[in-house]
Amino acid sequence: MKIIIAKDYEELSQKAFEVMAAVLDQNPNAVLGLATGSTPVGLYEKMAEDHRKTGRSYKGVSAFNLDEYVGLSADNDQSYRYFMRKNLFDKIDIDLNKTEIENGLAPVAEEECLRYNALLAKTPRDIQLLGIGANGHIAFNEPGTPFDTETHVVDLTQNTIEMNARFFKDISEVPRRAFTMGPKNIMDARRILILASGANKADAVYGMVKGTVTEDLPASILQRHPDCVLIADKEAAARL
Ligand code: PGA
Repeated sequence: MKIIIAKDYEELSQKAFEVMAAVLDQNPNAVLGLATGSTPVGLYEKMAEDHRKTGRSYKGVSAFNLDEYVGLSADNDQSYRYFMRKNLFDKIDIDLNKTEIENGLAPVAEEECLRYNALLAKTPRDIQLLGIGANGHIAFNEPGTPFDTETHVVDLTQNTIEMNARFFKDISEVPRRAFTMGPKNIMDARRILILASGANKADAVYGMVKGTVTEDLPASILQRHPDCVLIADKEAAARL
């Protein structure tokens, strides 16, 4: 794993942008795996700013998101599809028909998982962006998720529900289940870019980089990826 330590969140976002821009420079029709959460917001601002200033086009780009809450529609302002439009897609010229995410309202969850796995299999991602949970989760793959799991529905842990409650008016509104790509889908991407910011991520980052590879810390599987870049700010990298 290549490790880049940034002095602060601004530098982390800039370095993440440089990694993303290199992929887009090489292939204007790149397939991007994208992520939600607080950490990638600065990167998405940089991508939007670059589009505004340089006119870089995303018309040929396709995007796949990691996960989506079960039960939320695309226009619900807490859905991850909404998050992606607000933070990135509405600020660049990407074709929304080429932006994929699990359908939170799919009537049959298993069928939705199969549909998403099939799409991922036929559209290899050039890069997959990730955040990391304080408990070492990647996407909604909580500790204990078998590494060979593909897209599935998870019951969110109490810890994740509490962490995500900050985005909702009340914790009771946080959905209890979500669709998520599995570790296997994540590992299928050609390149992985994982971002970590803040002292509450320091233990998880340490375990991911220096610990044993174990399903108890889902992000540790990334040690086995041939082309993975971690960008962490000083606080998140404190134990490395
Ligand atoms: P965060 O979430 O970017 O909001 O910290 C990361 C994660 O839990 O995967």
